[in-house]
Amino acid sequence: MPKLIVGNWKMNGLQADSRDLAEKLAAGMKGDPSNDFHMVVCPPATMIAPVAAVLKGSAIRWGGQDCHAEASGAFTGDIAAPMLKDLGCDFVILGHSERRQYHEETSAQVAAKAKQAYAAGLAVIICVGELDAQRSAGEQESVVARQLAESIPAEALPLNTVIAYEPVWAIGTGKTASAEDIRQMHAFIRGKVGRMQILYGGSVKAENAREILHTENVDGVLVGGASLKAEAFMAIAAASRLP
Ligand code: PGA
Repeated sequence: MPKLIVGNWKMNGLQADSRDLAEKLAAGMKGDPSNDFHMVVCPPATMIAPVAAVLKGSAIRWGGQDCHAEASGAFTGDIAAPMLKDLGCDFVILGHSERRQYHEETSAQVAAKAKQAYAAGLAVIICVGELDAQRSAGEQESVVARQLAESIPAEALPLNTVIAYEPVWAIGTGKTASAEDIRQMHAFIRGKVGRMQILYGGSVKAENAREILHTENVDGVLVGGASLKAEAFMAIAAASRLP
């Protein structure tokens, strides 16, 4: 199965940078048969339309970084799943640790958002992961088990749901989980989610992508910082190929 390589641009980029990045990625993918991976980028909401205009017709698909649990209504500042679909999105990231931390998003809210995303025809990338203190206390599996149980709605299928394991202490810190930590946690998650794709996220870069992508039960990666540079992101994707 091709690896899923997802770029989470977070709150970065204006129109010119975003278009430029998308153009470089589309050009990089042109010569690539991409049998080894599928590439997805998730720009900030205001950048989806300009990025989609560049990526249309390329092998790269795009998605949102969050959506509301309602399809429309009086929710100032929020983005609804059908609005993402309307811009050609195929995916939406839900329950990213930055949403859980800074917007106090709960797993129940993540599940409600996922249902709305399915109704709009989007696939969801549901993020889970433990805090540093929880890992130090040996609670990582129970924390992740609870997040999975509460964030994944009953409607979830391997076709419409991807799980991203992102240990919070590894996000944007330069610290990556060891291959053994990743192997153990992904095996644990596999036992809970069956055939759903499981991504790893947290300081993935060109230098560590090969080892991570070829760890058992790692079906792809969710990349933040290193997805903002076309060359680095393409190198991560290329690491999907076996040597
Ligand atoms: P990072 O972010 O690659 O910058 O650590 C990953 C993420 O938050 O999805």
